Amino acid sequence: MQIDIITVVPGLLEGPFSHSILKRAEEKGLAKVQVHNLREYATNKQKQVDDYAFGGGAGMVMMIEPVARCIEALKSQRDYDEIIYMTPDGETFDQQMANSLSLKGNLMILCGHYKGVDERIRQRYITREISIGDFVLSGGELAAAVVADAVIRLIPGVLNDETSALTDSFQDGLLAPPIYTRPAEYEGMKVPDILLSGHNEKIANWRFEESVRRTKKRRPDLLEGKNIEAGEKRK
Ligand code: ADE
Repeated sequence: MQIDIITVVPGLLEGPFSHSILKRAEEKGLAKVQVHNLREYATNKQKQVDDYAFGGGAGMVMMIEPVARCIEALKSQRDYDEIIYMTPDGETFDQQMANSLSLKGNLMILCGHYKGVDERIRQRYITREISIGDFVLSGGELAAAVVADAVIRLIPGVLNDETSALTDSFQDGLLAPPIYTRPAEYEGMKVPDILLSGHNEKIANWRFEESVRRTKKRRPDLLEGKNIEAGEKRK
């Protein structure tokens, strides 16, 4: 997978992809993230990429020409499955969306900045608009990093333990159960006996029940329309 990210603040995206899992994904040749500085596609000497909004009002608007030139330049190099615009008025990102994006080959992500991009860019090029939640960031860069992270870790081979993405919270519509590591007792706080029993089926059932309990308590909305009560136990 290749993810091309277009931004006016490339520095904001330098960190996330050069560490840990995302760095390893690139080293293994499984996912490549390239950051493109929109200013390099500006059409005037001042490298201008924003301008005043028609109709007035506070805030600048990302201009069509630099964005269009950048998108066209990238499109001439490869075909994109999605051209995504990060914006608070987009569709809310969730695990299901991450799963479906992880199956794609090439993604382009345009980070909104200032008041956002000229509407005509959205009409002409954008195939998907994504928000990471009902709050406003100072730009789409951190949101793009969130989306890229959630997507890349799902690509087969990126995580060492293949099953570990499958047991994440949300992957089966439930929150993850509590987890523990050594020591088995810390200042009188003990790890549940069942986890030390070595009995895999009982452990799986305990984890399932704890997942349901935790989901009921913290995110009952996730259980709506689900018949977990009557539910099957996990293998
Ligand atoms: N840009 C600013 N706020 C955002 C958000 N919540 N999601 C995606 N992009 C954004």
